[in-house]
Amino acid sequence: QELASILRRMPKAELHIHIEGSLEPELIFALAQKNGVDLPYPSVEALRAAYAFTDLQSFLDIYYAGAGVLQTEEDFSAMAWSYLVRAKADNVVHTEIFFDPQTHTARGVPMAAVINGLDRAVQRGREELGLSASLILCFLRHLSEEDAFETLEQALPFRDKFIGVGLDSGERGNPPEKFAAVFGRCRELGLRLVAHAGEEGPAQYIRDALDLLHAERIDHGVRCLEDPELVTRLAAERVALTVCPLSNVKLAVFPELARHNLGRLLTEGIVATINSDDPAYFGGYLNDNYAATFAALPELGAREAYLLARNSFEASFVADDTRKKWI
Ligand code: ADE
Ligand code: ZN
Repeated sequence: QELASILRRMPKAELHIHIEGSLEPELIFALAQKNGVDLPYPSVEALRAAYAFTDLQSFLDIYYAGAGVLQTEEDFSAMAWSYLVRAKADNVVHTEIFFDPQTHTARGVPMAAVINGLDRAVQRGREELGLSASLILCFLRHLSEEDAFETLEQALPFRDKFIGVGLDSGERGNPPEKFAAVFGRCRELGLRLVAHAGEEGPAQYIRDALDLLHAERIDHGVRCLEDPELVTRLAAERVALTVCPLSNVKLAVFPELARHNLGRLLTEGIVATINSDDPAYFGGYLNDNYAATFAALPELGAREAYLLARNSFEASFVADDTRKKWI
């Protein structure tokens, strides 16, 4: 009881949230109606009932379809604002938000509408909620590196509105090496670098994200435990993992939360964090992830609660003097 209250109340950072994954069914329906987009589901309930995933790809198919209702700068702003208000309620004081521009530009939505809309919400969040937020542009790894380069080119006029780049979408068969050149270019540009790796893909993809992409943080990374030498390296170099427990269960990375390896990761000395990934699809926002994980794993107590919150600030890309306010 007391632990549950600590988990809810403690200030925390969220480092792995796809803004398109915060789009709730109600907002999907409202935007579809406003924009005249046809949805293959008759109701909010029917859409929600379709959220029964068997793996990452079965989720991505529905997630990209849902994002298809977003058309104007206002739509992107409304989506991000809803998330920020929700994050504030969970005592999130800093958040680094992923967005997938290719999902939108491929439908003819201008890059300006995507980035300016999200940035508008970020600015408003800072002013009205006192919430610190940054944007991270993700390349879709099922598309070509050439497409990623083109996306980077389109985004560079808005360089001051995002702090870094990431790599997401279907992991299997789309290894980090496919994006080594575009990440090299982003590195030259001074962008911060992260990549999804070791969610469904093997531990080798985590190594390759570090060595070939120079990723500073690994999103998910839970399969690192299959490679003991990699575990030692992650701990020694303090490479953070942005772990998403409810997501991992919904996408069958683990059969149930009680079997999740978060406790092991912490015991191994890895800088692990808890995050929501796609909260509208996976059954909960950040505090729901903390509460469910601590309820399922008896090895997690008050010490680990503090450690996870501390890790979230250590692993964030804020300036050191800002970080000092929190840890
Ligand atoms: N895009 C949104 N959520 C994702 C996840 N968990 N893995 C890969 N790509 C994603
Ligand atoms: Zn993710």
